[in-house]
Amino acid sequence: MCGIVGYLGNRQAVPVLLDGLRRLEYRGYDSAGVAIVNPQGLAVVRAVGKLDNLTQATTDEPLVGCLGIGHTRWATHGRPNQRNAHPHRSGPIAVVHNGIIENHLELKAQLIASGVKFESDTDTEIVAHLVDQHWSKLTDVGKAEERLLQAVQLSLAQLRGAYALAILCEEAPDALIVAKNASPLVLGIGNEEVICASDIPALLNYTRDVIFLEDGEVALLTRGAVNIKDSSGNAVERSPQRIAWSPVQAEKGGYKHFMLKEIFEQPRAIEDTLRGRFSLETGEVVASELGIPVEIARNVDRVYFVACGTSYHASLAGRHWIEQLARLPSQAELASEVRYRAPVFTERDLIVAVSQSGETADTLAAVQSAQAQGAKVLALTNVLDSAIARIADGAFYTHAGPEIGVASTKAFTTQLVAMLLLATFLVQEREVLSKDASKKILGDLVEVPSLMRRCLSIRSEVQDVAKRWHQTEHMLFLGRGLGFPLALEGALKLKEISYAHAEGYAAGEMKHGPIALIDEEMPVVVIAPQDSNYEKTLSNLQEVKARDGQVLAIATEGDQQMKSLTEDIMVIPNCSELVMPLLASVPLQLLAYYTADFKGTDVDQPRNLAKTVTVE
Ligand code: M6R
Repeated sequence: MCGIVGYLGNRQAVPVLLDGLRRLEYRGYDSAGVAIVNPQGLAVVRAVGKLDNLTQATTDEPLVGCLGIGHTRWATHGRPNQRNAHPHRSGPIAVVHNGIIENHLELKAQLIASGVKFESDTDTEIVAHLVDQHWSKLTDVGKAEERLLQAVQLSLAQLRGAYALAILCEEAPDALIVAKNASPLVLGIGNEEVICASDIPALLNYTRDVIFLEDGEVALLTRGAVNIKDSSGNAVERSPQRIAWSPVQAEKGGYKHFMLKEIFEQPRAIEDTLRGRFSLETGEVVASELGIPVEIARNVDRVYFVACGTSYHASLAGRHWIEQLARLPSQAELASEVRYRAPVFTERDLIVAVSQSGETADTLAAVQSAQAQGAKVLALTNVLDSAIARIADGAFYTHAGPEIGVASTKAFTTQLVAMLLLATFLVQEREVLSKDASKKILGDLVEVPSLMRRCLSIRSEVQDVAKRWHQTEHMLFLGRGLGFPLALEGALKLKEISYAHAEGYAAGEMKHGPIALIDEEMPVVVIAPQDSNYEKTLSNLQEVKARDGQVLAIATEGDQQMKSLTEDIMVIPNCSELVMPLLASVPLQLLAYYTADFKGTDVDQPRNLAKTVTVE
């Protein structure tokens, strides 16, 4: 998501900030801005679109000064336009922010009541006003740097949510304050200069000595020193560490490919997608976050998903949850097919258009055809203000952050999370299940990030399986129930990046054709967690083995029976059946990734494929 850079030293800040922002471009953005402090005061310049526009704006209006902050914004709250671009300013204070302030509505109401006028639709502007209010009251603190630090600490105590912040004040020209909670922030320590950024590539031209800020910490940066405090205000001692990565490696966070980085970002992306969307205490999903008016949720007769590719596979799982939990008729359809059929929609249908990019031509066309028949459309997308989000009646945003690898990974699992939230919301509004049942689903979701971190820790086991099988030309994927969409997705991942021929099948369909393919040459990935389908899936697996097929199993940790059946086993932790697809996605993604990597294909930009498919 957004990129932050801050600089304090003896160089001119603007070129350092622009260079840093350029190195963070891979994070995705739709607008950018800088704020500079100099003896004349504070100057802010912002521009919509690419960094070239900001560069041009800073050339038209040259900004001189050695203290500054810069930002590339990837919109989450408020449209991507100039007034919502960062930095945000209040009096002498300027702020850049990456993350989501969960209690922004509540704080905004309080600030408005105290007479504050807002200039943007962002959650970030709140931080500028809070710091300004505290700054104004702390007149008895003598040193400007200390006063600013205290103003920020008091403001942070009021915030809930995720943030990486860089804050400056025109009356404190020798101080840059940074703070972090759940969003990344790294400090670069140079000679008489400090630079902070969302990621290491932005620092490497200036220093290789870095300090990673931890959650809850705030730091006062001056030319010669870094003064870190924990959330209780205690001083934290932390020595810099030396980074040996090249700039290109650094952009990928040290991972070999963006895809691998994005696979590993999933626990964080899921936390971001869940944050602020429900209360575990009450079991309530926050209606305004989901983009569906409550009356629609209460009166809908059918939930109809339209999507392409990976988003279609997520939709198949979504259909399963809507039927199972909300007890509503539900369908998942390929958008490219729907648009050329004569589908029947009614005003009581809720069409959920699932698209990571929000720009897919077929999905857009399917939405238009549903709207023409009076159906209500909810966009489920990762990109704010994208084409589908704009024409839909409401939008529910996943907060996966930009996905660079063509193969969808974190976009897929955050779509699954969003669909489970949607199903829980429908349960709530239609009073289908008890509050305790809703709490249980939400509790299961909250567990996912830490369980997923455990799945990621078996990366080398999956790599070993891929090593044994990467030369295969064909692979079959089988799954039942929620395992079926995963079988389709596992096969799609493998074929798109490794170019091996792969097919996903519902395990129960084996006997209706694909079993003819099984021989000693055919590896079959069986998604067989210990869920309610376990026994049946196990029978399918035995059928494969009986025909000398080679089984690669995705199984539950500790499943001894599975262990005795195959040495190619990729385990996931024991988990609730509902969230299993989120966890089982990880070994499937890693299997495709390592297979492609062993084959040496272009993992991030596979041949013939585009990340956003804006033509049919
Ligand atoms: O942006 P969308 O989610 O609408 O894209 C749909 C498909 O093109 C996409 O999911 C594609 O299948 C993936 N890149 C596969 O990994």
